[in-house]
Amino acid sequence: MEDAFYITTPIYYVNAEPHLGHAYTTILADSLNRFHEMLGKQTLFLTGTDEHGDKIMQSARERGEGVQEYADRVSGKFRELWPELGIAYDRFIRTTDPDHVACVQRFLQLVYDNGDIYFGEYGGYYCFGCERFFTEKELDGGNCPDHQTPPEYIQETNYFFRMSRYQDWLVHYIQDNPDFIQPERYRREVLAMLREPLEDLCISRPKSRLEWGIELPFDTGYVTYVWFDALINYITALGWPDGEDYARFWSVAHHLVAKDIIKPHAIFWPTMLRAAGLPLFRGLRVHGYWKVHEEKMSKSLGNVVRPLELRSKYGLDAFRFFLMREMHFGQDGNFSEEGLIGRFNADLANDLGNLFSRCLAMTGKYFGASAPPAPADSDFQQEDEELLQLGKGYLEKYLDSFEAVHTSEALEWLMEFVRGVNKYIDTNAPWSLYKQGHTDRLKTVLALALASLRRIALALRPVMPDASRTMCQQLGLDLENLDVDLRRECSEWVYLSEGTQLAKKSNLFPRQELKLNREEAESDKQDSGKKSGKANAEKAGKQQGSEAEQAQELDFGDFQKIDLRVGRVEGASPHPDADRLLQLEVDAGEGSTRQIVAGLAEAYSPREMVGKYVAVVANLKPRKLRGVTSQGMVLAVHGEQGLNLLTPEREVTPGDKIS
Ligand code: MSP
Repeated sequence: MEDAFYITTPIYYVNAEPHLGHAYTTILADSLNRFHEMLGKQTLFLTGTDEHGDKIMQSARERGEGVQEYADRVSGKFRELWPELGIAYDRFIRTTDPDHVACVQRFLQLVYDNGDIYFGEYGGYYCFGCERFFTEKELDGGNCPDHQTPPEYIQETNYFFRMSRYQDWLVHYIQDNPDFIQPERYRREVLAMLREPLEDLCISRPKSRLEWGIELPFDTGYVTYVWFDALINYITALGWPDGEDYARFWSVAHHLVAKDIIKPHAIFWPTMLRAAGLPLFRGLRVHGYWKVHEEKMSKSLGNVVRPLELRSKYGLDAFRFFLMREMHFGQDGNFSEEGLIGRFNADLANDLGNLFSRCLAMTGKYFGASAPPAPADSDFQQEDEELLQLGKGYLEKYLDSFEAVHTSEALEWLMEFVRGVNKYIDTNAPWSLYKQGHTDRLKTVLALALASLRRIALALRPVMPDASRTMCQQLGLDLENLDVDLRRECSEWVYLSEGTQLAKKSNLFPRQELKLNREEAESDKQDSGKKSGKANAEKAGKQQGSEAEQAQELDFGDFQKIDLRVGRVEGASPHPDADRLLQLEVDAGEGSTRQIVAGLAEAYSPREMVGKYVAVVANLKPRKLRGVTSQGMVLAVHGEQGLNLLTPEREVTPGDKIS
């Protein structure tokens, strides 16, 4: 295994303020950095801002600010935001930093001396938004394909990088090194791009048109093109060519980017490095885009998500966990606050929070909050051996997935382990062992459960550093002297030292509710007004003629997507704000109960409901019903005689599948 790891984010343009998309890439880089550190590696994490070029000039002008002053101000916003999101970068680079300017000039001179930069005349369609020329073929109905605005035809003399020369070499390199660009779909996309002939890259802008850039070392009448400037930041930060960090970290460099900037990273950058005689970085890791309610996030749609707002509404741990858990690496993700809360309540409040709180409460009650001794192998029963196997298996899967940047799968494996430990507790029922005076067995069960909690707390550290610290503190771990190697954690089962004082209770993740800000609340009201109007109209339509009630046909595959299960109602109460609704706590076989709001009050009292077995739709997106979140739906017949619950005829267990 390599003993070093270097991770970079794109350097962000300073013409927009940081939003969810920037926060995601940077939190992902931070989590990966922390993860590799916990594998015992020496790590380096770089982020920063990209400040030269037309776009930045224009934005500064529009705001009536000097361009340097403007760049300083917005760059400062990025730099200051990251620590607020728990991001611990090692260097924050700016393309206006003097060492970067010197590095870019050195690099340009090298490529120029090697004969790969030439002077020539060029005419092309220039999009100021993209800061690049387009060929006629690339335009979309005469417009820039990204901005949908007409480009300007510009004819000028410029410097060109002989990129075409490296096309064949690059194709072979990507084919021979499958891990260079990942996920696979993006590797294929790059290879497809390379099936078209690669043109040389125009890398200069005359100063008469643009001053705000790095001057070419071999012609003071020109500045360099933003991408040629920006990409080099990744080696500036290492002190290329002589820096110790360059020697240590360049061969283990991983660039993390979204799919929007794959071409500069997968084609421009490798060919630039080759032309300068430098080895390539280790890998390009490409993620998808966050959408908001299935739409592209954009200023004009007014749906830009501000990370600090979410942090203050739901807490940093919830926000980071959601981003890492929800986005499947390489695919697009959909952001919604309802989704965030659903995830939080299901995974953190129910499964993880519950596990912590019950284990600490039991240790408090049965052993005065003092950790029981580590069991001997001879103490183990079959369930214990199974838990050990489960812990090892899931942790290994967690590690492999995390290493491959599949954080969502990694966290899913970890949550499987959490659910496994919850089940272990249910099966071994420490409360009964206590009542029956089986103290030795009770000690073994709790010692194993607490050792599991230790592992879980450590494995969550890369994603939720704050919550992980709290969990470790509650487990009485000495954080200062905790020497953790996540790989070793797989093979060694480390118990809490006997007698360690633990917290007596734990309320890590209290359940959350959707918090709308004022404008959202207003529009929600209007929406629900509209919706109920629509519902009434639909109802009216229904009464007029039953022909209208034609059921739509579903594919069998669509039906199979519905997770239908048996649940047992463990608790029920009237809804605080709606006479028709009941608030149910339902055990659907997940180790802890889920809250379901159901329109059953006209036919069933809360007391009647408790103990009933019901049919539950378990994979509905959580939604709010008159202010209370419902995680699923209970099925009932709406017959002539009113409501009638669907219940199984013979004995069943909560969680049993309905099909
Ligand atoms: N300055 C260039 C990058 C130069 S790197 C040598 C640039 N800057 S940017 O400000 O536009 O940042 C683009 C990056 O921001 C994406 O690659 C991604 O990391 C992040 N994101 C911006 N919007 C995003 C989403 N909606 N979703 C996910 N990430 C997104 O391009």
